[in-house]
Amino acid sequence: MFTPYKLRGVEMINRVVMSPLCMYSAEDGVVGDWHVVHLGSRAMGGAGLVIAEMSAVHPDGRISIRDAGIWDDKHIEPWKRVVDFVHENTDSKIGLQLGHAGRKGDTGLSWQRGTDAQMEYGFDIVAPTAIPVSERARTPRVITDEEITALPGLYKRATERAEEAGFDVLNFHCAHGYLMSSFISPLSNHRNDELGGPLENRMLLPLKIFAEVRKAWPEDKPIVVRISAVDWEEGGHEIEDAVEIAKMFKAAGADAMDVSSGMVTNKRPPDTSMFQVPFAERIRADAGMATMAVGNIETGEQMNDIISNGRADFCVVGRGHMYDPYLTRHIAREIGYDYPWPNEYGRGGGFRSKL
Ligand SMILES: Cc1cc2nc3c(=O)[nH]c(=O)nc-3n(C[C@H](O)[C@H](O)[C@H](O)COP(=O)(O)O)c2cc1C
Repeated sequence: MFTPYKLRGVEMINRVVMSPLCMYSAEDGVVGDWHVVHLGSRAMGGAGLVIAEMSAVHPDGRISIRDAGIWDDKHIEPWKRVVDFVHENTDSKIGLQLGHAGRKGDTGLSWQRGTDAQMEYGFDIVAPTAIPVSERARTPRVITDEEITALPGLYKRATERAEEAGFDVLNFHCAHGYLMSSFISPLSNHRNDELGGPLENRMLLPLKIFAEVRKAWPEDKPIVVRISAVDWEEGGHEIEDAVEIAKMFKAAGADAMDVSSGMVTNKRPPDTSMFQVPFAERIRADAGMATMAVGNIETGEQMNDIISNGRADFCVVGRGHMYDPYLTRHIAREIGYDYPWPNEYGRGGGFRSKL
């Protein structure tokens, strides 16, 4: 886990990645001090790559009014402040996740859902087909042809802004039932035009948008695609579909697949240890590309097992990083790896209990 890995011209110093985590703490999409500390401290904590949360390419593509954004030029400078902190103070790389919440938009702040405080903001939520994500969820409106035509341009501009802000990596969000994912999954895409039907058709729009993003993003910087490998639901995707999806993104120039699962419907995936690692392993073997494994990965032993056995190339950790921003440094110490601490904290790295 402490061996470097290079994607295009960007070398990560180790295989630990902080998973994108929506913070619901931006104002009109503008990130602030919270994000400097949140992302900055995980980078100081030693993860080779920190991926900033899903950032909306359109204001209606937000989960809540406090989601991070990248739909406007005013978002560039505040993001640059976060990126500059990471680059100036740590050896980590930093990525941005581009997304559009689609039919899962306007569901409010995570900690208010299901309470009286939960708010909807009246975003115009769109989807390939008017199928709500669950029985209790709002029914989306079918996205218009004009809106579909505008999407590649929205993602392209968002990509250019991410480059202006100085991000090293992009994460193209095609998982969890958000707009791209809802086009890809047969559970949410029942269209009978060329964007619906067989997998090749359902992939047309995500691949078209990906092509725009790839063109707008510098040649020497990588793009990772996050997918829901399986839908955990009858009639949904199985791992064989995910391998085909990965092959299509690889052919389009994707550098790695970030392999999540589920959340296209409200059916809960099993919440067991490392439950999605087999999907990353299968995609890595059958599509022949780098993968990121995510989901209930906790320990250095697990990470070394995943990396050294070729099950995935990166270990992505979400909640574990919320619990412990210094996860990577703590693991290094546990397993006896000499991982230098920042100068300011050098004495902390050498700290040993006297108890
Ligand atoms: C608070 C929270 C916010 C999240 N936000 C995002 C997000 O912005 N984009 C995304 O792809 N996944 C998001 N996820 C999913 C995580 O990135 C990760 O895939 C999931 O938590 C499983 O990894 P873990 O077991 O290490 O936490 C979020 C998860 C949590 C708990």
